[in-house]
Amino acid sequence: MTPLPTPPADDAALLAAFEARIAAGESIEPKDWMPERYRKQLLRMMSQHAHSEVVGMLPEGNWITRAPSLRRKLALLAKVQDEAGHGLYIYCGAETLGTDRSELVEQLLDGRAKYSSIFNYPTLSWADMGVIGWLVDGAAIVNQTVLAKASYGPYARAMVRICKEENFHKRQGYEVCTVLANGTPAQREMLQEAVNRFWWPSLMMFGPSDTDSPNSGELLKWRVKRKTNDELRQRFVNLTVPQAIALGITVPDPDLRLNEATGDWEFGAIDWSEFHAVLQGHGPCNQERLAARRQAHEEGAWVREAAAAHAAKQDARRGTAAA
Ligand SMILES: [Fe+2]
Ligand SMILES: [Fe+2]
Repeated sequence: MTPLPTPPADDAALLAAFEARIAAGESIEPKDWMPERYRKQLLRMMSQHAHSEVVGMLPEGNWITRAPSLRRKLALLAKVQDEAGHGLYIYCGAETLGTDRSELVEQLLDGRAKYSSIFNYPTLSWADMGVIGWLVDGAAIVNQTVLAKASYGPYARAMVRICKEENFHKRQGYEVCTVLANGTPAQREMLQEAVNRFWWPSLMMFGPSDTDSPNSGELLKWRVKRKTNDELRQRFVNLTVPQAIALGITVPDPDLRLNEATGDWEFGAIDWSEFHAVLQGHGPCNQERLAARRQAHEEGAWVREAAAAHAAKQDARRGTAAA
């Protein structure tokens, strides 16, 4: 863990008061005093989260035109639009920490900021739409339900709203999976193949193991995080394995077994070299995802300019009216 910088002498009292508020379960609001380190850590987490929501639209957006029915197309379109909304709520929340959204987006586009490694995997079949909803949104729910109790008010409140929508995403995904699981042998095989590809990357979504997570200690202390990465990962596995059994799907982990004493589904070793490689830009789709975001940003420049010009005109009119 990175050592905490020593606050200047005159800030010691503020820090003590801040930590007492956190310990009492109070929520920290944008205008409240906070240590710079808390602000930085939150900004890093919230901007990564917002970027993940927005980049996360790409793998599924890829299948909107190929959805097998109008009903599926509507659900998928609604889900992808929800993710754009999640990105917007969280960017707005992040801006309350004092950094402009345009700066955060710049950090994503020039590769300085990270986003969830799961979105650097390709979506190769229709079954991926079911499996992403079931596993990826399912993992997001486990993570975000806990973040809804985070100490920073704007982040916690955004999570409450987002979690409601994530539940719909997970259900629609699992429903796609149930239809495929009860379909033709080719459909069942397509589902199994998608689970084989997405299982391990979904477990990696919770981040490095606690023994190798440089930011966790500080985030737990300040109640930005309320559970460790490994605790959340175990919770996800415990919730998901029974759902895989209900689908008649094999989880691609020969070491998976139920520990009767603890009630935990114990799982095999995660390939962290893959996780780090993807995070460092060497996943199957890193280049493609960033290129798509850069293109969308450039093509949307006129919209931002028009919105700014409109806002300036409204301000000027209001100024005239007031005079
Ligand atoms: Fe989302
Ligand atoms: Fe979602």
